[in-house]
Amino acid sequence: MLNIALPKGRLGDQVYELLSTIGYDCKSIYEPNRKLIFENPENNVRYLLVKPSDVAIYVEHHAADVGIVGKDILLESRPDVYELLDLGLGKCRMCVAARNGYIEDKDRPLRVATKFVNIAKQYYAGQNRDIDIIKLNGSIELAPILGLSDVIVDIVESGNTIRENDLQILEEFLPISARFIANKTSFKFQNEIISRMTAKLAAAVKGDRSL
Ligand code: PRP
Repeated sequence: MLNIALPKGRLGDQVYELLSTIGYDCKSIYEPNRKLIFENPENNVRYLLVKPSDVAIYVEHHAADVGIVGKDILLESRPDVYELLDLGLGKCRMCVAARNGYIEDKDRPLRVATKFVNIAKQYYAGQNRDIDIIKLNGSIELAPILGLSDVIVDIVESGNTIRENDLQILEEFLPISARFIANKTSFKFQNEIISRMTAKLAAAVKGDRSL
């Protein structure tokens, strides 16, 4: 069986819809239960529901053969996996944001709150800007409001969280979308089933359902 790590949450819902269109659906996945493993025996695949930020860990360590994960996570954690396909789902942008009316003091290091420490460091290194990183795990938008940071580096999708918390986007520097990834050993030894799935996904992404 091919083990597929699926992200839970809003990206997962979009991904599952795409998988359904290529015949890899699993009816019981939306039943009210707390199960984390679902099977589609016709296609010989098994879904593992994991936190979005853990998908690449499962795949890299061979607990899953393939998975779907945001490019933001791949850039942040740089797992040793193959990136097979851009699924064009979960589109968002990596942004710098601050309070409305914020004016930067260039004479001191910029205090940056983020979940994406490596992405933020790389971005500001490219700008030759000294920063102090404040690593948070969620609700990043609170940091500049409470004076914990000057700016945040975070993903923006609809822009609602930014707007509703009186923040403004200062820079958009990285487009993000979901990627289909594979464990390197699985790609070698289960190449046929992974390649077939990749081809079907690629066709579905292009809008061609004939495969
Ligand atoms: C992400 C991100 C922003 C929000 C952006 O948070 O960190 O807070 O989504 O989406 P929007 O532009 O559509 O409002 P997430 O929902 O993953 O929750 P978190 O605060 O726990 O990280």
